[in-house]
Amino acid sequence: MFSLNGVFMKDKLIIFDTTLRDGEQSPGASMTRDEKVRIARALERLRVDIIEAGFPAASPGDFESVQAVANVIKDSTVCGLARALDKDIDRAGEALKGAKQSRIHTFIATSPIHMQMKLQMTPEQVIEHAVRAVKRARQYTDDVEFSPEDAGRSDEDFLCRILEAVINAGARTLNIPDTVGYSVPQQFGATIANLIQRIPNADKAIFSVHCHNDLGLAVANSLAAVMNGARQVECTINGLGERAGNASLEEIVMAVRTRHDVFDCQTRIDTREILTCSKLVSSITGFPVQPNKAIVGANAFAHEAGIHQDGVLKSRETYEIMRAEDVGWSANRMVLGKHSGRNAFKSRVIELGFEFASEAELNDAFSRFKQLADKKHEIFDEDLQMLILEAGFEAEDEYIKLIALKVCSETGEIPNAKVTLRINNQELTGNAGGGGAVDASLKAIEKLVMSNAVLELYSVNNITNGTDSQGEVTVRLEKAGRIVNGLGADTDIVIASAKAYINALNKLQSPDQRQHPQKGDV
Ligand code: KIV
Ligand code: ZN
Repeated sequence: MFSLNGVFMKDKLIIFDTTLRDGEQSPGASMTRDEKVRIARALERLRVDIIEAGFPAASPGDFESVQAVANVIKDSTVCGLARALDKDIDRAGEALKGAKQSRIHTFIATSPIHMQMKLQMTPEQVIEHAVRAVKRARQYTDDVEFSPEDAGRSDEDFLCRILEAVINAGARTLNIPDTVGYSVPQQFGATIANLIQRIPNADKAIFSVHCHNDLGLAVANSLAAVMNGARQVECTINGLGERAGNASLEEIVMAVRTRHDVFDCQTRIDTREILTCSKLVSSITGFPVQPNKAIVGANAFAHEAGIHQDGVLKSRETYEIMRAEDVGWSANRMVLGKHSGRNAFKSRVIELGFEFASEAELNDAFSRFKQLADKKHEIFDEDLQMLILEAGFEAEDEYIKLIALKVCSETGEIPNAKVTLRINNQELTGNAGGGGAVDASLKAIEKLVMSNAVLELYSVNNITNGTDSQGEVTVRLEKAGRIVNGLGADTDIVIASAKAYINALNKLQSPDQRQHPQKGDV
């Protein structure tokens, strides 16, 4: 807290979103360039301060995604990750050239186990690399962040030495990652307080934290750090991220806002955009949100028990500490129907953050909308969002296309599916029986495609309410160590399942030579 003309102002808590980088490191969560741009626009509307758009040195695709995000985002800083290597930093600098405000985030591991086993470097060599990397990054931007990877298991004296050196080299944000999710709140908070107090030039940098959720403590550890002086939190929408994920943005933001009595800081987030972002990330990645997830889960504001309902009706504060509408829940309103025109459709889609690249794209989306409106009378924002996402999938993944699907399912009989696909411009038809309509359909598709991929997950969610709601199906496939998620939606869940399966098969078709930032050698 600081005083301006005698009025006490709260510090700013910087929200650094890494959904597009660490979030994308979740197995199966990889996103295309266009999907990343869509999420980045939603994050900008949410008013996150910094968007970590990716790791440009990972692959040409990652480079292009960071570049595309850098070119369109104006109100948030766009950040690129780089190992402490000249070639990574140059790649990040290049990708970020078009950004209005850019940041390079460079890192090197500092825990004894990572330095010895992974990097095979002495602590002195690690400091040298870190300083060199920060200086090189400063040639591209004044906004340079440094992370000592695996800080949660690093020696505090060594952290003080390396952090002091990188501040002198020009780092303006020092991010303390609990890379393997090993820390516990009291201890992690104390580490942050100690670093701020012990590093002589600590006042020249902002302390940040980046916590993983392996013990379910990512949010608690981040908040403990904020209570001890951290002024930037790295987090992701829905807590997406490597392994058990990162700290969830929505939980951090709402904890700081709801408990303003205990936090001396505030964010600039427009919390009403939280739910839209959460749904968009979930749809694009195919990672559903569990119903009891704080803030964005379907049950987060649902009062089931009679005693709770009674209390909420008398006075909502009896059981509610936040208002559902403050995080966007009231946005679930019926917007369009069968008789809505092209203009109404277009303006609502644009309000939801999508753009049509051409008249042809708008026409295609509008005809999909009309088809959906014939099957389903009330079209909600969630339906529109899914419709546009699906149009995007099909435009990008042309290799396998669903042409027709017919399923016979009768009590006492084995269900049978007949499917017609266009595979690489050739039309093929096949049949298969199965345990149920979905099983038969996926088997018929597999018979034609012969992918030999292993189905690791199949899940169905309804997008809105009612039996005419669209079912959103997620399919996870594994092949030769590569994991992809496919997504499909339809008012008929058998068709939604076929679309999801084909979407995953198309993703397996595209080459993926991305390097993992933390597995690479330095
Ligand atoms: O978890 C981690 O250590 C990271 C770094 C690259 C910051 O993601
Ligand atoms: Zn991480």
